[in-house]
Amino acid sequence: MNRFTIPRDIYFGENALETLESLEGKKAVLVIGGGSVKENGNLDKIQSHLAKANIETKVIEGITEEPSTQLVQDHLGTLNEYEPDWIIGIGGGSPMDAAKAMWIFYERPNLSFEDAMQPFNLPGLRTKAKFIGIPTTSGTASEISNLSVITDSETGVKHPLADFELTPDLAVIDPVMVESMPQKVIAYSGMDAVTHSIEAYVAKPRTTFTDSLAIEALETLDEHLLSSYKGNQESREKVHYAQAMAGMAFANAVLGNVHSMAHKSGPTFEVPHGCANGIYLPYVIQFNRSVVGDRFAKMAKRLELKGDTEGQLVDSLIEWVRELNREMGVPNTLKEFGVSEDLFKEHVDQMAKNAMDDPCTGTNPRETSEEEMKKLFEAAYYGKEVTF
Ligand SMILES: [Fe+2]
Repeated sequence: MNRFTIPRDIYFGENALETLESLEGKKAVLVIGGGSVKENGNLDKIQSHLAKANIETKVIEGITEEPSTQLVQDHLGTLNEYEPDWIIGIGGGSPMDAAKAMWIFYERPNLSFEDAMQPFNLPGLRTKAKFIGIPTTSGTASEISNLSVITDSETGVKHPLADFELTPDLAVIDPVMVESMPQKVIAYSGMDAVTHSIEAYVAKPRTTFTDSLAIEALETLDEHLLSSYKGNQESREKVHYAQAMAGMAFANAVLGNVHSMAHKSGPTFEVPHGCANGIYLPYVIQFNRSVVGDRFAKMAKRLELKGDTEGQLVDSLIEWVRELNREMGVPNTLKEFGVSEDLFKEHVDQMAKNAMDDPCTGTNPRETSEEEMKKLFEAAYYGKEVTF
């Protein structure tokens, strides 16, 4: 038996934000990142739509970094005092994931972080509030997904909280939100979306539903990501929807080693999530090709990459990822990103160990030992081909 869960409603396209005018409720907490959503007038727009629905709002701002347990704790008081019936995460992955985690502990004050970390074990939410995601970047698909990635402030380790209770009630995907997205954000979040498509297409729990979304998303990203990076607004809109499709795929098929590695090395090396994915993806494709080479070849064919044999097609897919990285200024190794060799050597054993515990390792198509995980990190640090 399979399950496929996405938000109850997804509004997308020009003026999708207007749907907020028909919400029912009294109060909404809006969780945002830095100042850009204020400066470009989009926060005002959202608040005025909510005002038309007679919904009061309170803004929690400054969620500029990937969220931690401490950050979530710091803002819980605001939620408890204000008692919203809607929580709206507006931003890239960080504000949306932070808002989801605040939602969990607002609903369930007695739950510990350790309990929340157990995959697919959350108690029911929605006893006090419902959740809306409004993305301002094109990659994390947190507005669609059943995930919230939180760093444990005590250990510095990132944990994906995963449960279909966390799937938003409503996703509002309006292209106006990404018109002024900076180039670096387009590149990093774009590589996140590319990784979601490719990992979901080969992940163990993939289904015919997730396959169709993953491969269509990848084709759209192939056609439009670079053009969006170069400033084309029509392409930017297409990428904004493609990343949501990739989100529908990975929320249900889960992911693989690229994400385990990115989660477990990101905070230590200060590599943003999407950038880490762009770095690791080619190496993990090399590692997985012995078990899902046919799947990678199918993707390569869909992108009309060159190659007559399965091996040539997989090589082409790897080169396609590397070229996309190069074109958008995403490094192809950790060394190139600027991680010092000393720092790498100091942490690689622990990171490999931690990555083994990440839920994404269990859904990677090829079984992975701790030793192999370490070798994957080393390959991605030094830029060595993965031949094991
Ligand atoms: Fe991701």
